[in-house]
Amino acid sequence: MINLRSEREIAIIEQAARISAQALKLAGEFCVEGITTFEIDEHIRKFILSQGAVPNFLNYEGYPASSCISVNDTIIHGIPSKKIVLKKGDIVSVDVGAEFEGYNGDNAYTFKVGEVSDKAAQLLEATENALLRGIEQAVAGNRIGDISNAIEQALAPFSYGIIREFVGHGVGQRLHESPEIPNYGNPHTGPRLVAGMVLAIEPMVSLNSPEVSYVGDWEVKTADGGLSAHFEHTVLVTEKGARILTKI
Ligand code: MF3
Ligand code: CO
Repeated sequence: MINLRSEREIAIIEQAARISAQALKLAGEFCVEGITTFEIDEHIRKFILSQGAVPNFLNYEGYPASSCISVNDTIIHGIPSKKIVLKKGDIVSVDVGAEFEGYNGDNAYTFKVGEVSDKAAQLLEATENALLRGIEQAVAGNRIGDISNAIEQALAPFSYGIIREFVGHGVGQRLHESPEIPNYGNPHTGPRLVAGMVLAIEPMVSLNSPEVSYVGDWEVKTADGGLSAHFEHTVLVTEKGARILTKI
């Protein structure tokens, strides 16, 4: 079942999403040479709490931090650490969400630390563009497969890998709700989109092979050690199109 949100619920989700987006923007400002990912997570946690919200990743299925901070070949679920010090040329995927009055926001962005290689910059640009192409399809009457296919098609000109093990999702009273939103697929397939659905769309894209390798309980890296990017927005499906709720 895919939840449809009332006007009252949407007003709250908008606030949860705005706090999530502000936390992500703040994290980006801290993605500088010499900082640890632990320190960035501390800033995120304090900001979210200061807004009367709760960091919704913290303790999610036992997750130990307020954000996921995934550097270079870490695709997702990088656990912030005092041992991980950012350096020039790194790409840093920060994924963060806030729960406000019982509703959740979720978003991610891959930041650059100083100048990055052309290859890295192109990967980030293509992944963010793929997210936006997917979001354009989040219109009432379309199907989930239209979002998935738009993301896949936007990445088709490149020889990148689309991560298949992880997908976007509905978001609401829980961080992860139905439906699943793969980042590849066929148009005109899957559940029909209806106004009032709230979706987290999140392509994860690797420079080379999409094969993943798991490190410990959480972290997911590229098996070949290549770079990886992750961009995510929480969006509301309306009759007229998608409204990005995590845009600042
Ligand atoms: N925010 C991630 C997602 O985009 C999930 C994070 S899981 C957590 O779906 F455990 F790290 F919180
Ligand atoms: Co998500």
